Amino acid sequence: MILKNKKITLGLTGGIAIYKSAALLRRLVNDNGAEVVVIMTEAARKFMTPLIFETFSGQPVVTEMFSREKVYTRHIDLGRDVDMVLVCPATANIVAKTAHGIADDMLSTVILTAGNKTVFALAMNDRMYANPITRANIRKLKDLGYGFIEPEYGDLACKDVGKGRLADEQTVINYIDRRLNGKNLLQGKKVVVTAGPTREYIDAVRFISNRSSGKMGYALAEEAVKEGADVTLITGPTALSLPKDIVTVRVESAEEMQKRLLEHAGTADFLFMAAAVEDIAPAEQVSSKLKKSGLPEALKLRVSPDLLLSFRAADKRCCIVGFSVEMEDGEARSLKKMDTKGMDFIVWNDPSKTGTGFEFDTNEVTIFAKDRSEWHLPMTDKREIARQIINRIIEHGRKP
Ligand SMILES: Cc1cc2nc3c(=O)[nH]c(=O)nc-3n(C[C@H](O)[C@H](O)[C@H](O)COP(=O)(O)O)c2cc1C
Repeated sequence: MILKNKKITLGLTGGIAIYKSAALLRRLVNDNGAEVVVIMTEAARKFMTPLIFETFSGQPVVTEMFSREKVYTRHIDLGRDVDMVLVCPATANIVAKTAHGIADDMLSTVILTAGNKTVFALAMNDRMYANPITRANIRKLKDLGYGFIEPEYGDLACKDVGKGRLADEQTVINYIDRRLNGKNLLQGKKVVVTAGPTREYIDAVRFISNRSSGKMGYALAEEAVKEGADVTLITGPTALSLPKDIVTVRVESAEEMQKRLLEHAGTADFLFMAAAVEDIAPAEQVSSKLKKSGLPEALKLRVSPDLLLSFRAADKRCCIVGFSVEMEDGEARSLKKMDTKGMDFIVWNDPSKTGTGFEFDTNEVTIFAKDRSEWHLPMTDKREIARQIINRIIEHGRKP
């Protein structure tokens, strides 16, 4: 009963995925204890009738703004007096209307009253989703703190394959749980996380890389979402499945990661640089596969670009949290690295200790702040480490 005593207005709009909302409503009410009032747009009612939603919510479905019932202020009550307005499925149209302050039916008016208590679970054709107008509308609302449950990639009702499918029921419920029950330490913040190794290609198939598994970065991205952040994960190749409700950018080389990272300079509030960017790369890359007989005896190397330095040069404001893997003289080296690269915090781990660093599910780290405050986090799983890193950083930042 994770939603006991929570009041939710469920807005249904005219998308084919509406049939999934009946099952979702049932779970919200019966399994999780939420109190739900449903509003259906005119288009939504072309797809399904209110009866099923009335039955599962135990309340009349609201459809008209100018109803004959003697409750004249429902367009305010259903936005003001609830914990969340969940629009599921959310059409491109309702997102566009909200982004422009349009209030021409009951649902859009309630959303205007609720403001950023509103969460959109997007579902639409992939072209509608990719349209720059839709993208700009989503961006604008995200910047204002509205919630978005991103659609998934897969078969769409229109027989296309692409990004546009409504997220699955559990993902929606997890999101609601996080938003209503989480501490929201990063509410409204834009967080960029880099994770995993990079690959520096020698030829078409061979590369130089390292043992980074990406686990620490993925855990940070997931925990930041739980705290209400708008997260972008930039990841090198890993064996991990991509987190479902996080915008994920896949890259291979250090240069590619640098390019995608710099796109966020000037807009990110926090950067968690958990990727193990490969420091060295072949001086030249052959585009075909080298023959065994033609392999060079020695490989000429160059140093990869320094992502942190270039990001800090482009963004003086962002709070940068770096990571260091150092054995001998680890503390001194980590502090020096933090200072020379303009980081605000550095998380040091010593890979010589069993159960820490690359590939393990656990870690033991020390966090240093620019002002030399430090916190030791004893061995525990990487998810808990991620949670604690976020907590310490936010708490420290709040100190006068
Ligand atoms: C069969 C069919 C399926 C549709 N599916 C979607 C959809 O999944 N997402 C979407 O944004 N629009 C979809 N539309 C278009 C919307 O119904 C249309 O933009 C409508 O004006 C939305 O109104 P509303 O946002 O007030 O509910 C669909 C239309 C039809 C005819």
